[in-house]
Amino acid sequence: MYNHFRSLSIKDELTGLYNHRYFQEKLQELTAKGETLSLLLLDLDHFKIYNDMYGHPQGDKLLQELAKVISGNIPEQGTVYRYGGEEFAVLLPGTDSETALTVAESIRKAVSEHEFEGMKHMPAKRITVSIGVSTFPHMATSKENLLMLADEALYKIKYTSRNKVQLYTSVVDELKSHFDFGSREMELIQMIKTFLTIINSKDRYTYGHTERDMEYAEALARKIGLPEDEIKIIRYGALLHDIGKVEVPTEILNKKTKLTEQEWETMKMHVIWGEEIVKPIKELAPCLPIIRHHHERYDGKGYPDGLQGTAIPLAARILTIVDSFDAMTTNRPYQKTKTIPQAIEEIRRCSGTQFDPHLVEPFIEVIKEIRNAKIQQDVS
Ligand SMILES: [Fe+2]
Repeated sequence: MYNHFRSLSIKDELTGLYNHRYFQEKLQELTAKGETLSLLLLDLDHFKIYNDMYGHPQGDKLLQELAKVISGNIPEQGTVYRYGGEEFAVLLPGTDSETALTVAESIRKAVSEHEFEGMKHMPAKRITVSIGVSTFPHMATSKENLLMLADEALYKIKYTSRNKVQLYTSVVDELKSHFDFGSREMELIQMIKTFLTIINSKDRYTYGHTERDMEYAEALARKIGLPEDEIKIIRYGALLHDIGKVEVPTEILNKKTKLTEQEWETMKMHVIWGEEIVKPIKELAPCLPIIRHHHERYDGKGYPDGLQGTAIPLAARILTIVDSFDAMTTNRPYQKTKTIPQAIEEIRRCSGTQFDPHLVEPFIEVIKEIRNAKIQQDVS
C-alpha cells in the first residue's frame, strides 16, 4: 500500500515519468554527493502551435509519445522526469559534459526522426526538441546553479533557433580568452561573472538580454564598417553595460507598476555603479564610456551627463539603439512587448531625438538580416 501511494506521489499521471517533485528530491540527493552529474533540460518546440491546431487531448498524446521516445534513448544510469508542461529533464549521474552532449544529441535525433501524429502540419514538418546541457560540479557550483545553467543554455537555443543541443558556455570565459588579463584582473573578472549571475537571477528580463545585445551591437558595428578592435570593445561593452544593476534592489528591477521618482533615481545609478565596478580592470577601460553613457540621448535629454549628439561616444550610441530595441521586443515588468515592425516604427520615430539618426537605417537592416537568418534556421 505504501509503495502504491509513494508511486502516486512521485509519478506524473499523464506520462508515467517521475514528476517535478521527485526530480527536485533526486537533484538534491545527487548534488549532495558532490560527484559528477549532468543535467539535460528538454523543451518541445512549437508545442503551442500543435495544441492550437489539434486541441489539448491530442497535445497530451504527443507528450506521452515523446516521453517514450526520450526514455528509449537514454543510457542505463539516466532517469527522465517530466519537468513541467512540455519540459522534460534527464539526470545523468557520473556523466561528464561530453558524454551528456552525445546523449542529448541522440535524443534530439531520435525525436526529429520519429513519426508523430500530425507532425506534417508543424512549421518544420516534424516534431523537434531543444536541449540545454550543464554539468556539476565542473561548470555548475550548486543544484540551483546546475538548473540555471542548463536553463540558460536552453534559452539560448529557443531564442536563436530550435531542434538543437546546447552545452552551457559562459560569455565571461570567452572574454577571458580575448584579453591578456593579469592574475589580479582575473579575480575581478571572476567577480564580474558572479555579478552577472546574480543579475540574471534578480531580473528575469536581463535573462538572454545581454547576449542578444552583444549579437546586435556587434552586427551594427560591423555594418557601419568599424575596425575589428573597436567591434571587440563594443561586444564586451554590451556584455558589461548593465553590470551596475547588481546594486539595484530586486523590488525596483522587477516592479510591475511605474517607478516612483526616488526609485527611478536609484535605477539610473546603475550606469555609475557599473563604471565603478569595471574601472579597476585596466584592459577593459575602453568599455567604460559604453557603460556610463548607454542611456544618453541624441537630443541631450538622457542620463547621467546629458551629453548631446556626437559628444556621446559612438560605441554608446550603438548600444543605446540596440538596448532599446531589445527592451521594446522583450517582456518587461513595466512595458508591453512590441512586434518587430512596431519596434522598427518606434526606432524611426525616435531618430534624432533618442537615437543617432545615422545609425537608425543601418540598424534596421541588421534587424532584418538577423531575423531572416533565424527564420531560415528555424524552418530548415
Ligand atoms: Fe542600462
